[in-house]
Amino acid sequence: MLFRLARPALFALDPEVAHRATIRALAAWSALGAPAGGGPAPRRPVTIAGLAFPNPVGLAAGFDKDGEAIDGAFALGFGFVEIGTLTPRPQPGNPRPRLFRLVEDEAVINRMGFNNGGIDAALGRVARARRAGVLGINVGANKDSDDRIGDYATGVARVAPAADYVTINISSPNTPGLRDLQSQPALGELLARCDAARHLGDGTRRPLFLKIAPDLDRAAIDVVVRAACDHHVDALIVGNTTLSRPPLDSPEAGETGGLSGRPLAPRARKVLAQVHAASGGAIALIAAGGIDSPAEARARLDAGASLVQLYSALVFHGPGLARYIATHL
Ligand code: FNR
Repeated sequence: MLFRLARPALFALDPEVAHRATIRALAAWSALGAPAGGGPAPRRPVTIAGLAFPNPVGLAAGFDKDGEAIDGAFALGFGFVEIGTLTPRPQPGNPRPRLFRLVEDEAVINRMGFNNGGIDAALGRVARARRAGVLGINVGANKDSDDRIGDYATGVARVAPAADYVTINISSPNTPGLRDLQSQPALGELLARCDAARHLGDGTRRPLFLKIAPDLDRAAIDVVVRAACDHHVDALIVGNTTLSRPPLDSPEAGETGGLSGRPLAPRARKVLAQVHAASGGAIALIAAGGIDSPAEARARLDAGASLVQLYSALVFHGPGLARYIATHL
């Protein structure tokens, strides 16, 4: 209700300014202990990778890249929150404008390019968060790195002690060449090094998730699934934004970057089903891409996902959406 009143004012702002304002508000709310939350997260427990998720609805990476609003995000009813993508060193990302709201399509195009304050700064915030659910930390490579695989291994090792799970994101379309890590031989080396890096001092190992593009064809999906199983990846996140362009009505449709939101749903659904068929249930799946209702979330769970994540639909439907979906699944 409040969101419906605020939406015109938010939509009058540049999308990145509106996003900053949202993060600031959620961060302030976090600092106050998120007292105005609508109660604890809806309970619909799911266990994967040995982790107990209070409910299967998660906040996708990229919304709170630097972990500024972790407790505020949990207070919205999410069962899990994934911060990042974080890179070993801070970096500014691409020049602005780099975030576009496609109102007519309920979609977003972004070419942010992993703008973030770096792993160390975020870990300070993670240490202060109370974490009412499962916290994932998503890591990536610096744009100017001459050892991208090394950046992932470093990232996994640094965040593993603080995270409930670690995601390696090799599917952002906005760091040139990054998606090449989804193919062999780079993929095998990447996963072997990250598998080694997730071991903790006490002999346990942190669950490792791999986030893939919704633009992979069947052959590429087979390669990724096999490598993920070989290297004990605990779950695949299917997936990131798409470089494809289904028919769109908004004037910003021609912008370069990754498309997310409602028009991504058919593709994300199809690729999820293909990954599920390729893996035969051997690896847990987390669905993302255009999830904006209990029915869409249910369709992904029925297609083989154990959990879902969302981001873009929050822009159009407001902060009550996670609680609504988790309650009405
Ligand atoms: C993203 N996404 C993303 N994913 C990721 O792994 N690391 C990141 O840093 C980001 N950054 C990011 C920024 C913006 C502005 C958007 C819209 C998205 C992708 C996101 O987590 C998700 O996979 C896709 O957006 C698809 O889900 P939705 O948005 O359609 O629900």
